[in-house]
Amino acid sequence: MREWRFTRRRTRGGPPPHHAEGVSSTRRGEGLGVGVFMATAFAASAGVGFAALLLVAHWSGAPPAHAQQATDPLLSLKAKFARPAFVPNPPGNPPTAAKVALGKRLFEDPELSSTGTIACRSCHDPKLAFTDGESTGKGVTGKPLVRHTPTLWNLAWSPLLFWDGRAASLEEQIRFPVEHPDEMGSTLENGVARLSRHDSYAQAFAQAFPQDARITPDNIAKALAAYERTLVSPPTRFDRWVAGEQGALTPSEVNGFAIFTGKGRCSECHSGFAFTDHGFYDIGLPSEDPGRGPIVGLPVATHAFKVPTLRELAWTAPYMHDGSLGTLDDVVRIYEMGGVSRPTRAKDLPDIINLTDQERADLVAFLESLSSETPPHPSTEAWVNAAPPVRQPAPRDTTIVSQRNKLFSPQHVRLERGRTLTILNDDTRTHNVRIFDKRFDFNSGAQEPHESVTIRFPGPGTFEAFCGIHPSMRLTVEVR
Ligand code: HEC
Ligand code: HEC
Repeated sequence: MREWRFTRRRTRGGPPPHHAEGVSSTRRGEGLGVGVFMATAFAASAGVGFAALLLVAHWSGAPPAHAQQATDPLLSLKAKFARPAFVPNPPGNPPTAAKVALGKRLFEDPELSSTGTIACRSCHDPKLAFTDGESTGKGVTGKPLVRHTPTLWNLAWSPLLFWDGRAASLEEQIRFPVEHPDEMGSTLENGVARLSRHDSYAQAFAQAFPQDARITPDNIAKALAAYERTLVSPPTRFDRWVAGEQGALTPSEVNGFAIFTGKGRCSECHSGFAFTDHGFYDIGLPSEDPGRGPIVGLPVATHAFKVPTLRELAWTAPYMHDGSLGTLDDVVRIYEMGGVSRPTRAKDLPDIINLTDQERADLVAFLESLSSETPPHPSTEAWVNAAPPVRQPAPRDTTIVSQRNKLFSPQHVRLERGRTLTILNDDTRTHNVRIFDKRFDFNSGAQEPHESVTIRFPGPGTFEAFCGIHPSMRLTVEVR
């Protein structure tokens, strides 16, 4: 394992926005001896944690393809894009057929808008893979919106919603389009009043929410969110290829995959079955939109937008948060040229990518293999309705956590009360450790590579931490 040195956390002009008591730089581990000791302990724990992660990754999705193990050199790469085994539904809003059916009906009903003319479907059209085909759409006022309407595929896996991640769950997200003056111009309370005029809704809510059979803002949001989690993009030829059918992709598409995962470095961010790590990056588009920056209060996240899924792109043009690019060829050319060079531009992006015309065509052909050949419908695979396995690997007793490759490792830690937890940025990216908790609101600010953050917890309990820039990074800390 490579030698690892960590520097003391830089002190900024004043404490981070929330709860400065939590941060205490690495004062305790300042001496060189302690530092070396910590690095060793960390190396050991990171190794074990990573092994556990591999186990989780394997068991949560990758279909075993033992038969080709020896013959297919792409096998481990393919496994990274294998389809999952379950949809992560939150415990507070388990799906039922009645709830999902109600959610679909609400999604298609213009009664949620002030004018009774605009439904969610007006902008997220199922016939256009839940987009509107416009650079920027229009709602009740007819004024063009500020950002492009994104597709709704595979959002069950997205920890944060919107191009800038300002909503923390699908349930929370619903009120934004309903209340936006130019989108639906209404409120969920108005929605309740309008829906209550229809007897059939009283019945549908009673069936969907037997414990609390009322038309309420909460139940509207829950039904819509449960429906949205069923919008899993269907398998395409690419999935058959990943599952072992060699001839499912053409040689050109296979070469495109090699570029995507190789010199294009696309899979640094477009990873997993949905081709997104759900993180936020500035890819150098010449737009003035500050994106995630103001939401997290971090200049380093300026111009950063959520990585969109690359599934069903053939049906979702135009592309990007501003809808500025009309074709996949345009998109690839932007990456080739490298975009606007500025300090926030993601370090994962190569400065330029040299592609021949054939290679560019191959990359585009590969991207197209992620789309259905006829207008896509949500997946009907059996696993979409399967119950999740009992997750969480067993907690590890450690006081040090790694962040390499956008992963907290280990992901589940047990800590004696009174001990501090040190989170080391041994990654190449800036991270932002956050804990939102009634007892403890923690925000590390921008944590640059090689900086460590030390957290002192307020007392016993279980705390969930995540990264504000790469929110798929999750860490559970049990303080005893
Ligand atoms: C007038 C057009 C319009 C309507 C109506 C509309 N949306 Fe959207 N939707 C958008 C736009 C534009 C965005 C992106 C906004 C942003 O990121 O700032 C968006 C974003 C979203 C997202 C986030 C997607 C992601 O990748 O994070 C979800 C989920 C969503 N809408 C669901 C809904 C639901 C549910 C409704 C109905 C209650 C609805 N929308 C109504 C235009 C619309
Ligand atoms: C550093 C992370 C990162 C890398 C590497 C990356 N992308 Fe992206 N990609 C993004 C982000 C973020 C967006 C959205 C940007 C925006 O709208 O401002 C995006 C958008 C896209 C879109 C538009 C999707 C849509 O629905 O609007 C396509 C297509 C795409 N990327 C393909 C690629 C390809 C091909 C490569 C490799 C050449 C690549 N990406 C490399 C982060 C990345």
